[in-house]
Amino acid sequence: MTSTIDSGVLRRLANSWPNRATVRTDMDRLAEPEEYDRAVPDYPVRLLPFAEHPAFTAAAPEQRQQVLTLAWLVYNERVIAAEEHVANPTFAMIMHGVFPGTDAFAIKQAVQQTHVDEVWHTYMHMIAMQRTRQVRAVADEPGYPPTVTYRRLVEAERKTTEQWERDLLKLVWTTVSEISINAYLELLSRDTTIQPLHALVPRLHARDESAHSSVMIEVVKALYPHLSTAQRQAFVRAIPQALNAFVAQDFDVWPAVLRHAGIRDADEIVHDCRRAAGNNLLVRDFSGIRRIVRELEIEDRIDYDFSAA
Ligand SMILES: [Fe+2]
Ligand SMILES: [Fe+2]
Repeated sequence: MTSTIDSGVLRRLANSWPNRATVRTDMDRLAEPEEYDRAVPDYPVRLLPFAEHPAFTAAAPEQRQQVLTLAWLVYNERVIAAEEHVANPTFAMIMHGVFPGTDAFAIKQAVQQTHVDEVWHTYMHMIAMQRTRQVRAVADEPGYPPTVTYRRLVEAERKTTEQWERDLLKLVWTTVSEISINAYLELLSRDTTIQPLHALVPRLHARDESAHSSVMIEVVKALYPHLSTAQRQAFVRAIPQALNAFVAQDFDVWPAVLRHAGIRDADEIVHDCRRAAGNNLLVRDFSGIRRIVRELEIEDRIDYDFSAA
């Protein structure tokens, strides 16, 4: 383990934060978004795992439109759950000194800035969702199950006996998420076929996240040398689990969405998609996580087939 933290990177990020952070620079754009054109979809149809399923393409245009509205809400729910249930608890733990090796001021400053950004991200996505609910007159919604990324974290936590194991799982889930979330945000951030606000929010969010991935890489490099052998083994074991949880299509959410839009054979549609090969990854960009495992020199111990990318 030869990697040492790059305090120059942390200092540059911390110094540029007051002018870079979207919470400072883009609050107005969010408050006064472009006018809402009801003919423009809320979410790109190509991202639906059942986009080409005959039972979906045969549905009425209003029904498909409603599915896209709900899909946009689901997309935001997944982001918010990652911030609220995974990233923010981890940043709080880092600030509270749970992980030895992270007590340098340069680390704490960058982590606290990151934490502020994340709370703002939840706010941005929350505002965007509320606007959609108003303009599309969404009166009721199906209950969404907890997101796949969070469900898998809870499942992994259940199999542990020690608090340090659970802390480490949250840390690994956050590491994967901070380093890979841009791939999820970029699914929408450059899309010109959807509501402009629905590309803008992920685009603004992604701008902050490109700094967060650099922060998280330094945080992990700082604390990894302080982990015991058992903790390092748990860290290495958790990376593929977290990656799988992060890139997975969330099939569980779709039957209720399709049913809510009045589309028949909802369960069959989703069942067919689950079975279709090559349709089970939502995000396919692993470049960030490959970089961190290389920097930690644990590349050969990670049990993950990156060639699926
Ligand atoms: Fe975020
Ligand atoms: Fe982040």
